[in-house]
Amino acid sequence: MRCLGIESSCDETAFALVEDGRLKDAVLATQADMHALFGGVVPELASREHYRFCGALYDELMRRTGLTIDDIDVVAVSRGPGLLGSLLVGVAFAKGLALGSGARLLGINHLHAHLLAAGLEGATLFPALGLLVSGGHTHLYRMDGPSRIVQLGRTLDDAAGEAFDKVGKLMGLAYPGGKLLDMLARQGRADARLFPRPYLDNDNLDFSFSGLKTAAATWLGPISGKESWPRPLCRPEDAPRTLKDGCASFNMAVTETLMEKTRRALDRNPDLHRLIVAGGVAANSMLREQAAALMQSRGGEAIFPSPRLCTDNAAMVAYAGWLLGSEGWEHPLSLETIPRGRAIPDDMRRATAP
Ligand code: KG4
Ligand code: ZN
Repeated sequence: MRCLGIESSCDETAFALVEDGRLKDAVLATQADMHALFGGVVPELASREHYRFCGALYDELMRRTGLTIDDIDVVAVSRGPGLLGSLLVGVAFAKGLALGSGARLLGINHLHAHLLAAGLEGATLFPALGLLVSGGHTHLYRMDGPSRIVQLGRTLDDAAGEAFDKVGKLMGLAYPGGKLLDMLARQGRADARLFPRPYLDNDNLDFSFSGLKTAAATWLGPISGKESWPRPLCRPEDAPRTLKDGCASFNMAVTETLMEKTRRALDRNPDLHRLIVAGGVAANSMLREQAAALMQSRGGEAIFPSPRLCTDNAAMVAYAGWLLGSEGWEHPLSLETIPRGRAIPDDMRRATAP
């Protein structure tokens, strides 16, 4: 079975082809540099760029694989969560292809796709606990199959990556600040008491990071008065020692908070011995170390899809579509696009014979 995957939920336009569970080829156009000029993704510009890139990328993928639309069994597309205008471009393109060719259409939950991507690299996926940590989302899932992924917890306000980026911005780090903050943290000494571990004094598996951001801002005020560093700060060597130590402490507070709720989720699901960590923040060095250590201490394993699958891409969408398509699912052409903040409906149906 061949599945074409389409990704346009944020600022990457991407197409990929998965054949019999293996990635055949993938193409991607990023808009990151353009949005960096504005310090964040500008939704209207993003959808226009997707519209500009879709046709050319699709043609390029077909040329490189030597296939035509008639060779495709399933057209899978990220249907949410994401930026509504951006999602609509990809979903409309997918519907056109499916309608014109008779291929099955599948709307993919972009967050599930991030976690399922680990399967493309040979990992056994089910059953597992999934921790999805990105710029827009922080979710915990119980994963029993491609169509049996149940949300256990989510962030109530800022996502983990958003917390890194907002604090990075306050520190004057270039956008998005998570990666540089992590790099500076590795050169600093963490003080475990400097920042709180937020929202742990409750019985749920949700997260809340906005208070931690305020704590970091409160700490930064007097520091900024005493020390100076270039803004935007692009090179770690330009950061003063105090800032590096603050980064290390902040990194530790976010990581330990994520790990504490992960540990509680594992305690409540004792049959799970596998933890899949995906999304942009899965690249964080301390998070990787602590997740690996947590799973090792419980006799299980932590799985991290490689960095190219942690950032937005279409290979994961094509793979998720291939998994669901192999189970016989499809969506009608009335497939709805779901923006960030709205629950993704469970509206797949069993495919009708062609
Ligand atoms: O999944 P992703 O590529 O896309 C969006 O959610 O848009 O995640 C990007 C997020 C950004 O917030 C970025 O700062 C964060 O992942 N990030 C990191 C690291 N690398 C990327 N956060 C912490 N440590 C890192 N090493
Ligand atoms: Zn994503």
